[in-house]
Amino acid sequence: MNRSYRIGVIGGDGTGPEVVAEGVKVLRALSKAADFDFEFTKFDIGGDRYLREGLLITDEEIATLKGMDAIFLGAIGHPEVRPGILEREILLRLRFDLDLYINLRPVVLFEGVDTPLKAKGPEDIDFVVIRENSEGMYAGGGGFFKKGTPDEVAIQESVNTRRGVERCIRYAFDLCRKRNRKRRLTLCAKTNVLIYESDLWRRVFDEAAAEYPDIAVNYQHVDALCMWMIKNPEQFDVIVTGNLFGDIITDVGAIIQGGLGIAAGGNINPQGTAMFEPIGGSAPKYAGQGKINPLAAICAAQMLVAYLGETDAANRLLAAVKQVVNGKIKSLDAGKMGYSTSEVGDLVAGCLA
Ligand code: IPM
Ligand code: MG
Repeated sequence: MNRSYRIGVIGGDGTGPEVVAEGVKVLRALSKAADFDFEFTKFDIGGDRYLREGLLITDEEIATLKGMDAIFLGAIGHPEVRPGILEREILLRLRFDLDLYINLRPVVLFEGVDTPLKAKGPEDIDFVVIRENSEGMYAGGGGFFKKGTPDEVAIQESVNTRRGVERCIRYAFDLCRKRNRKRRLTLCAKTNVLIYESDLWRRVFDEAAAEYPDIAVNYQHVDALCMWMIKNPEQFDVIVTGNLFGDIITDVGAIIQGGLGIAAGGNINPQGTAMFEPIGGSAPKYAGQGKINPLAAICAAQMLVAYLGETDAANRLLAAVKQVVNGKIKSLDAGKMGYSTSEVGDLVAGCLA
């Protein structure tokens, strides 16, 4: 009998459901030619349901999703819902409750894809960012004092536990070793200003480094690192950083790898489940038009297959994506691809047949 994987599918908001449908299409095509199957379970979670029923995500849904082999997420964010509600109560709740403490974001420029960086090519842009995904500024601590008065105070706290920092840093060292490329791990923080949290990161990093003598380590302040990602991206192999800095630098990463049409990421608990998503957001202005590029979602699906340990299939899917971006589609930008959303999915699925 074939192996079977249970995948929770959350289309979510805006263009999320459209791009996720193409990811599922491609996963079905992939499994047809392999000795495993997928069993997809759809979840109606997102802004529309919230507006309709007042529900964000239920404890039962969290428990069911926890039991899945992996989760495939489209996008969360709705123009009619105040910013912060859906993001905190759905996306961040999933990251926290499932303890998806690693946010893994590859920054890879494929052959045939344009980068805004002058004179840089695929040989220069090929690294991974490991973003701590369960604490830091995202923990949500803080509060207002005298809100709405001229004397008001807003405090936003960053939570960094030794355990949280250490498990993230060790994951990055292990990944760097497993990748076996430049074997260089860069810590990104802000030790010159954030003298508590960055100090903890730096000490834990240096302690771990002693156990990985085969990995070359260096340190960069986050502001300088943003500059170097533009000027000399070829120096990077694996970057490890906290939640907020990771959020910011991976948008820089997305644009240098060709934009949000191709950038994907994984929210991973190495001892539990994982959730994969295109990192582009819900792009509501394109919703329902068949114009959005599904390749980022398809790349997220590719990461999901790799995470399940189906290495051959993951490599085949990666090759299919590379084939489609190198020549077949005109541009990665919504509406400029020369194909509709579902036609791009068909192109990738066609390469797998
Ligand atoms: C991301 C997004 C989220 C984040 C938002 C939607 C809350 O920007 O996944 O990078 O800040 O983590
Ligand atoms: Mg972000």
